[in-house]
Amino acid sequence: MKKIFIVITLFMMSSMLIAQDAMFSTPYIQLPNPQTRGGMPLYEALFRRSTAREFSTAKLSLQQISDLLWCANGINRNDGKRTAPSARNAQEIDIYVMMPDGAYFYDVEKNQLTLVSDKDLRPVTSHSDFAKQAPLMLLFVANYDKMKGFDENGREFYGATDAGYVSQNVYLYCAANKMNTVVMGHIYRDDIKAALQFNGKAVLAQCVGFPVE
Ligand SMILES: Cc1cc2nc3c(=O)[nH]c(=O)nc-3n(C[C@H](O)[C@H](O)[C@H](O)COP(=O)(O)O)c2cc1C
Repeated sequence: MKKIFIVITLFMMSSMLIAQDAMFSTPYIQLPNPQTRGGMPLYEALFRRSTAREFSTAKLSLQQISDLLWCANGINRNDGKRTAPSARNAQEIDIYVMMPDGAYFYDVEKNQLTLVSDKDLRPVTSHSDFAKQAPLMLLFVANYDKMKGFDENGREFYGATDAGYVSQNVYLYCAANKMNTVVMGHIYRDDIKAALQFNGKAVLAQCVGFPVE
């Protein structure tokens, strides 16, 4: 009887490990539909909005990641326009989601996270201690493939401006959901660009997580 129990336990443990391994090697993660109604009243969220640099070890659920990304720069209208404005509706701010197990590109139309690196790129982006503690770091990239009609100054100026709106949306999401966040201008732009290989500029990164109890 004892032997049967041990065999069953070992079998269950090995299948759990295989399932976990399969999750990490998946080329994409389908996010659940974002919650697009309700939430904390805007004035209350504005009252709470702040920067906080301490994070507990708790991870965000897929639902929370979906809601966060939709608030950041998701599609909110039938014509494909976004929760954040963009100059000439270029919609050039791409979001990369960097977590300990890898980095993902937010495919806004499919509401999917596409795996782009199996490395932890949080410490590549920022050397701040809190950057390693936050379970999730967003990277806002001005995608120059989507800014063909802008000259160099325009790409620089509007890329930075439009990333700011996305960042503020993240601040408001965090305020409304009692989560901690800090946006960072002090990031290693060349290093993260080399790691992710995009045509554009990494404008800002933003850590998101839960407060320490
Ligand atoms: C464009 C921008 C860049 C920032 N860069 C950093 C940064 O690199 N590191 C950091 O710890 N905080 C950074 N911050 C956060 C500011 O320090 C913070 O917003 C400021 O102290 C005001 O605090 P509050 O957000 O709570 O109002 C940045 C904020 C902005 C708007």
